[in-house]
Amino acid sequence: MTQDELKTLVGRAALKYVVPGEIVGVGTGSTVNKFIDALATIKDRIPGAVSSSVASTERLRALGIEVFDANEVGELAVYIDGADEIDGRGYMIKGGGAALTREKIVAAQSRHFVCIADESKRVEVLGRYPLPVEVIPMATQRILRQFQAMGGTARVRMNGGAPLVTDNGQHILDVTGLEIGEPLAFENEVNQWPGVVTVGVFAHQKASVCLLGTSSGVRTLEF
Ligand code: 5RP
Repeated sequence: MTQDELKTLVGRAALKYVVPGEIVGVGTGSTVNKFIDALATIKDRIPGAVSSSVASTERLRALGIEVFDANEVGELAVYIDGADEIDGRGYMIKGGGAALTREKIVAAQSRHFVCIADESKRVEVLGRYPLPVEVIPMATQRILRQFQAMGGTARVRMNGGAPLVTDNGQHILDVTGLEIGEPLAFENEVNQWPGVVTVGVFAHQKASVCLLGTSSGVRTLEF
């Protein structure tokens, strides 16, 4: 199976975690796009979704799924999103699509995080994938130096010759050279650096379930 077919497989498999009658939290990315397409087939069973990005909102609305503001609704039963890496404890790196801040907000508002990913995302230790960090531009150079002191190399993510601007009007750093063996401690530390909006380690908002697309079908990992 191709990676695209694996994404379709887990996107469809996630439907069984959608609670009828309840608003569902929806993440961002190519795997989530498969989920959104599948969600459209059962849209009459849910009031709608809370979305983690402008891109997902547009896709949901184009398929006739109502999108609610996070502030209009209470706790969500489930949040469904992809990941750039996931370890054996359900800790993740996210933010490859630059939507990490809103993803963390919607995940925090949800009782369960169902991660949908193809098997290439499963790692032993987080950090091979460049770690996304959303930052306030004024703090960029100091945060670059703080990562350097940790042994990492941070670069500003670019888009057509200029720094990429997130849905929140901020910039993204991508950090290589880190081995994140203690994701909770790492997230706590980097989160309190002035100017960091969100670090792409999802340890406090870890997955409770991962639907992993493999060549022999969907493996369900519970954490
Ligand atoms: C976006 C994300 C995505 O969930 C992550 O990048 C995985 O994306 P894809 O499903 O396209 O591989 O965190 O900010």
